Amino acid sequence: MKAVIWTKYGSPDGLQLGEAETPTPKADEVLIKVHAAAVSRADTEIRRLKLLFPFGVLIRFYLGVIKPTRIKILGSEFSGEIVAVGRDVTQYRAGDQVYGYTGLGMGTYAEFICLSEKPAALLGVMSKRPTNITHEEAAAVPFGGLEALHSLDRINIQRGQKVLIVGAGGSIGTYSVQLAKHYGAEVTGVDSGGKLEMLRSIGADHVIDYTREDYTKNGQKYDVIMDTIGGSPFAGSIRSLNENGTYLNVNPKMTHRLQMGLAKGRSSKKLLSWEGDYTTKNLLKLKELIEAGTIKPVIDRVYPLEQIAEAHRYVETDQKKGNVVVKVQ
Ligand SMILES: NC(=O)c1ccc[n+]([C@@H]2O[C@H](COP(=O)([O-])OP(=O)(O)OC[C@H]3O[C@@H](n4cnc5c(N)ncnc54)[C@H](OP(=O)(O)O)[C@@H]3O)[C@@H](O)[C@H]2O)c1
Repeated sequence: MKAVIWTKYGSPDGLQLGEAETPTPKADEVLIKVHAAAVSRADTEIRRLKLLFPFGVLIRFYLGVIKPTRIKILGSEFSGEIVAVGRDVTQYRAGDQVYGYTGLGMGTYAEFICLSEKPAALLGVMSKRPTNITHEEAAAVPFGGLEALHSLDRINIQRGQKVLIVGAGGSIGTYSVQLAKHYGAEVTGVDSGGKLEMLRSIGADHVIDYTREDYTKNGQKYDVIMDTIGGSPFAGSIRSLNENGTYLNVNPKMTHRLQMGLAKGRSSKKLLSWEGDYTTKNLLKLKELIEAGTIKPVIDRVYPLEQIAEAHRYVETDQKKGNVVVKVQ
């Protein structure tokens, strides 16, 4: 099969279009013909092994110390069609249109992948895909959509609450803005200037360009501050919360973890850290919300698979609005 082979850590030039063996599904797996795959911020960070300590070290041991040997194909989000099923598979059959997240198994920059029908924490989850959007759009839903949905469901947002989202213009951010609006919140999106118009177009009531304004110093108070990137100043964010407000950090840096640990139990404010929960149930909930027109994926650019290195370079310009996708078929 056609696949992008990951030959070395570092520059996007290490991603080379080539041939790989088409995988064979095990008893509990399905074989999926991939139509489109997302090119996420995380893909570029994993490619460079530019990850927070200790994850960078652990991932290097998992992938291969000198170069990627255990996993040779990057990419962890896909939309496609099932073409064969293992003998024990009960929930899917050939012809089903599915989307999902392969987690640490990666492999979606390729014509075919195998995935178990049973979700496994970090090794993948899938479901039938939304019927009213294209494969390119559907491929951009699983990671950002699942993170946003699970994170906001932990807060139980009440109608009229003021919610501020840091990194609102990214993959997790664009789903978070739309979901918070759906739950009735008054939403402020914080990101760089080039993304603010898009944020208004998906429903943000207020926008802040973080390169020009510090939301912790504008005198506003919020009920929820959700940080999707680990870029929020902790003390200032806590001061900007109403009494009983919630600070939710989906990508806490080590310093955030320490600050949250030290502050826990010493104030009326709720402090929540990342808690991954990738479930079929939530993928189906996202499917329903998309089919109802409540949320939609924001797609910035679609590249052919052959231009995967360019797609990675574009994501690394920091101009990406929402999501970037590669078309595989
Ligand atoms: N997508 C995945 O599969 C995945 C998996 C695991 C972990 N993560 C991590 O989760 C984080 C968010 O993921 P994502 O896919 O949503 O990333 P993303 O699409 O790159 O979005 C991040 C957004 O945050 C903005 N930003 C950067 N610094 C900011 C600041 N100080 N204040 C406000 N906004 C700021 C960026 O804009 P500018 O660049 O223009 O500043 C960008 O629009 C990333 O760190 C990623 O590594 C992602």
